[in-house]
Amino acid sequence: MDQTVSPLAARRSGPLKGRVRVPGDKSISHRALIVGALTVGETAITGLLEGEDVINTSRAMRALGAKVERTGPGVWRVHGVGVAGFVQPAAPLDFGNSGTGCRLVIGAAAGCPITATFDGDASLRSRPMKRVLDPLERMGARATSMTEGGRLPLTLAGARDPIPIVYEPPAASAQLKSAVLLAGLAAPGETVVIEHEATRDHTERMLRHFGAEVTVTRDGAHGRRITLKGQPELVPSPVIVPADPSSAAFPVVAALIVPGSEVILEGVMTNVTRTGLFETLRDMGAIIEELNPRIEGGEDVADLRVRASALRGVEVPPERAPFMIDEYLVLGVAAANAEGTTRMRGLKELRIKESDRLAATANMLRANGVDVEIDGDDLIVHGKGRVAGGGPVTTHMDHRIAMSALVMGLASDKAVPVDDTAFIATSFPGFVEMMRGLGGDLS
Ligand code: S3P
Repeated sequence: MDQTVSPLAARRSGPLKGRVRVPGDKSISHRALIVGALTVGETAITGLLEGEDVINTSRAMRALGAKVERTGPGVWRVHGVGVAGFVQPAAPLDFGNSGTGCRLVIGAAAGCPITATFDGDASLRSRPMKRVLDPLERMGARATSMTEGGRLPLTLAGARDPIPIVYEPPAASAQLKSAVLLAGLAAPGETVVIEHEATRDHTERMLRHFGAEVTVTRDGAHGRRITLKGQPELVPSPVIVPADPSSAAFPVVAALIVPGSEVILEGVMTNVTRTGLFETLRDMGAIIEELNPRIEGGEDVADLRVRASALRGVEVPPERAPFMIDEYLVLGVAAANAEGTTRMRGLKELRIKESDRLAATANMLRANGVDVEIDGDDLIVHGKGRVAGGGPVTTHMDHRIAMSALVMGLASDKAVPVDDTAFIATSFPGFVEMMRGLGGDLS
């Protein structure tokens, strides 16, 4: 990561107008590289997100023995080593800011007879890894960390003969589920994950796309039971990465709160395990139309037409949290611009993201004159229809804090200054230029 600090401020802007495509989905981009690397033969990927998080995963795949090449903008080729075929890396694997890249590769490596050291930046070094290591140790891997709570840097010895397990994740986390499924590829028999609350399902879809046998059945009111048949022969299959709904969230909210705006976002993934924000915004009165719904690369996508809308406060149920876990910061911005109170329930997992996003959302809004409360794991925003602005925002190495604060500044009375926008490059390269192109005043 380039360590240059890049401060920026957003000012009240005229109507945002235009048609844009946000970069490829981060979750799918990581998985395409990792599953491609566990496949025998060559996988072609188009629309790969070329953000720093994904680039770090591509480097890790190379260090683990896959051949990974970029042949054009967003166009990549992965020549894989086959299930359980990772080779021992010569140096520690550095995942920078990316929890997803790191945890998924820990899972994939846990099923290979190699020893690898995992590391990351100060933000990633502060995030919990123990919960991902626990099930992997049950499968036969061994991890050693010098720090409490099994944080990075840590060294993992993968299992020579991985054991398939039945695993119930203690938290609604697609990363935990995915780590176990990726380790389970190398185990004989069936690896089962029972999630009490369904989370994004890209790993299941991608493994099936590459020929693995994965069955998914409902389990309880909100849960799913996922069964993977181990030791499949993964067959290369091209991947087209759709536009990332978690990145689209920022121009969507900006268009809703800047008066007179109308913006079209092309090819946004509308997989229901990712669209909790759009559903919530519609509950708040947002005009978000899905044009030209279609299937691309095995995922539902649509063009979203978003118009500035009068928003009202709503209650967001806790079971929706896994379907919008990365979107609460920017939902906080929408809620502050709405009339009335929005209560977002069950946000425990937000405390362990790139930063403590529960505290960060409250601080960002409070610094800009918004009335906010934290009640247990709930965030309550008392919207007044507009935001005063003027309050400096600290990004804490968190890309989504930076983008949310800048979106807020486009509609607030006074400018919103952000201390550092450098981390935006982890997930949304070109964000500032795109928002300027739509008419946003960022300088
Ligand atoms: C992701 C899962 C989520 C999300 C992250 C991407 C994934 O994390 O916050 O940005 O690609 O699996 P958790 O699974 O820990 O909630």
